[in-house]
Amino acid sequence: MIPVRHLTILGSTGSIGVNTLDVVARHPDRFRVVALTADKSAKKILEQCRRFQPRYAVLLDEASAEWLKTEVRAAGLATEVLSGVESLEKVASLADVDTVMAAIVGAAGIRPTFAAARAGKQVLLANKETMVMAGRIFMDVVKENGATLLPIDSEHNAIFQSLPQHFKGDLGAVGVRRILLTASGGPFRQLPLSSLEHVTPGQACAHPNWVMGQKISVDSATMMNKGLEVIEAHWLFEAAPEQIQVVIHPQSIIHSMVEYVDGSVLAQLGNPDMRTPIAHALGFPERIETGVTPLDMFKVARLDFEAPDFKRFPCLRLAYQALATGGSAPAILNAANEVAVESFLKCQMPFTAIPAMIEEVMQAVGRKDIATLNDVLAADGLAREAAHEWLTCLA
Ligand SMILES: NC(=O)c1ccc[n+]([C@@H]2O[C@H](COP(=O)([O-])OP(=O)(O)OC[C@H]3O[C@@H](n4cnc5c(N)ncnc54)[C@H](OP(=O)(O)O)[C@@H]3O)[C@@H](O)[C@H]2O)c1
Repeated sequence: MIPVRHLTILGSTGSIGVNTLDVVARHPDRFRVVALTADKSAKKILEQCRRFQPRYAVLLDEASAEWLKTEVRAAGLATEVLSGVESLEKVASLADVDTVMAAIVGAAGIRPTFAAARAGKQVLLANKETMVMAGRIFMDVVKENGATLLPIDSEHNAIFQSLPQHFKGDLGAVGVRRILLTASGGPFRQLPLSSLEHVTPGQACAHPNWVMGQKISVDSATMMNKGLEVIEAHWLFEAAPEQIQVVIHPQSIIHSMVEYVDGSVLAQLGNPDMRTPIAHALGFPERIETGVTPLDMFKVARLDFEAPDFKRFPCLRLAYQALATGGSAPAILNAANEVAVESFLKCQMPFTAIPAMIEEVMQAVGRKDIATLNDVLAADGLAREAAHEWLTCLA
């Protein structure tokens, strides 16, 4: 008999959350949804409650949760509706949940993701910001509590698939020389540099290969997303920064590669569809159906590669810099980036101001040592204050 997995899906109304539920719905014999969560998307989560009948639905926003409570009752559902961060932590650590999809966007995901790791769950990690802000502390919590981590980011999932199954965190011991982290280069890879100042949020969110949430789409356009992924790869695979090479690969067919000392390069390929890494992690170690269109090599025909251009993508340089600086620097980078992206999406500042703001905030706040999650959250708070001050000066 197939063992049934009991799931909490943090961020169920987002791009990763919806793709997760799509895979789950294809395997009713394998998965039970115990809890779904979102911030304010009450109508969307109500539909998900009707379909998946979870025991809990959590909305961060209290007013949205009140509306949902009424609707859930009217629909005759047994789902208990909760609100607030503590409730997100509660459903991430329920005794009868074994697997938690961590797919809240941004720093907001850090507390529930930590709660899942502290409770020893199998954590399917989409929320890369947890790793960027608090990589060392998070990895320690995972180890101390017997939690397991499976990467959802397509690149990290590809690297995980290209490493030997007995890999335990020592790349040298399994003969790995380098990780080749692929990046599409986003929508502005070939745009004249002088035009970058005038790009709109709509253009930045129109990724050539992937359909994703707004924040990660802008991060892909600045290549901050790749920078965050370099930091994530550093902690997940214990790779030194110089062992992580970003490779621009515009077709997004190779999702990343691992280079071995004998000259072999192992890669994972597929059509760009997040249901593949999600299903890989949900079914691990088995392979399960996803509905993803099989890769047609004759249609793909060619695969291109180029080196990243730090002049075009200063955010990538800033991320490498934050990783080298260590301590609170990656948390500051992440917080400044979140404020900058939100402001750009609201048309409060131009696209090219995103790296400028991040660099100034990193300088203004300065690095501190990090020992606890509270230290991380304090650095995040200081960086947000500095970023908002920067915005006030811009206005
Ligand atoms: N999308 C992708 O293809 C992709 C690929 C790789 C990695 N990732 C990573 O996966 C994570 C999710 O990305 P996404 O694209 O799925 O984001 P998204 O579409 O924006 O969805 C974000 C989810 O988080 C919830 N949320 C937002 N703010 C919250 C808060 N303050 N507290 C609690 N919940 C909150 C949202 O609820 P509402 O609907 O109520 O706003 C939604 O359910 C990110 O860390 C991203 O970097 C995404």
